[in-house]
Amino acid sequence: MIRLAGVSKSFPTGGRLVPVLHEIQLEIGPGEMVALVGSSGSGKTTLMNILGGLDRPTSGQYFLDHQEIGRLDTRALARVRNVYIGFVFQSFNLVPTLTALENVELPLVYRGVAPAERRRRSTEVLERIGLGAHQRLKPFQLSGGQQQRVAICRALVGNPRVLLADEPTGNLDSGTSAEVLDLFQAIHQSGGHTMVLVTHDRAVARACQRTVEIADGHIAQEVL
Ligand SMILES: Nc1ncnc2c1ncn2[C@@H]1O[C@H](COP(=O)(O)OP(=O)(O)OP(=O)(O)O)[C@@H](O)[C@H]1O
Ligand SMILES: [Mg+2]
Repeated sequence: MIRLAGVSKSFPTGGRLVPVLHEIQLEIGPGEMVALVGSSGSGKTTLMNILGGLDRPTSGQYFLDHQEIGRLDTRALARVRNVYIGFVFQSFNLVPTLTALENVELPLVYRGVAPAERRRRSTEVLERIGLGAHQRLKPFQLSGGQQQRVAICRALVGNPRVLLADEPTGNLDSGTSAEVLDLFQAIHQSGGHTMVLVTHDRAVARACQRTVEIADGHIAQEVL
């Protein structure tokens, strides 16, 4: 589903290019649930942003479902992202002025789905995740765990094949983290999504089938 072939990424910093990822080789099969771990600054977010089509490799190739997406233009990349990828952020990234329902609808708005249909599908996902009663509330009226569950609904509503999450429990207390983790496991069991979760949390890593460790921009080891 995901294949990185010699992916490197450098950022211009202080007038020179500083390498962050070094020729990453990584394959993740359809339906796999992978934990990505590594110390702060090792390059996890940089790698996830590439996997999510939010950023491009400096060199090397990224194949998503056999399409090389590193070479797509901005519009084509946005379309692939919308169809294939759901992304969950540590800080939820909900639009503060929109209700929970409207936030969940957003990927379908970009996809041009008619209003009644996108409302129906968004309500269904929110109800499935136990937030049916909260759909008219705005993010500030929701707890952190509820906000993250809304963000997960938004990531899922378009039925993407790939679900990516960058420290999805990083801003949550341990009880709420456990709930969100259970939700990711339930999604994985029911939906067959390919999932990559960045985490510092051992419980999250244990819940995944496979753990990939990154150190200083290299894949350090695979814990099988
Ligand atoms: N846009 C950018 N411009 C310049 N340097 C960047 C940029 N993004 C990341 N970096 C650098 O790349 C390195 C890796 O950052 P990254 O955010 O990928 O780490 P991380 O593993 O996600 O860390 P954390 O666990 O703290 O989230 C850091 O040294 C960071 O300063
Ligand atoms: Mg990070």
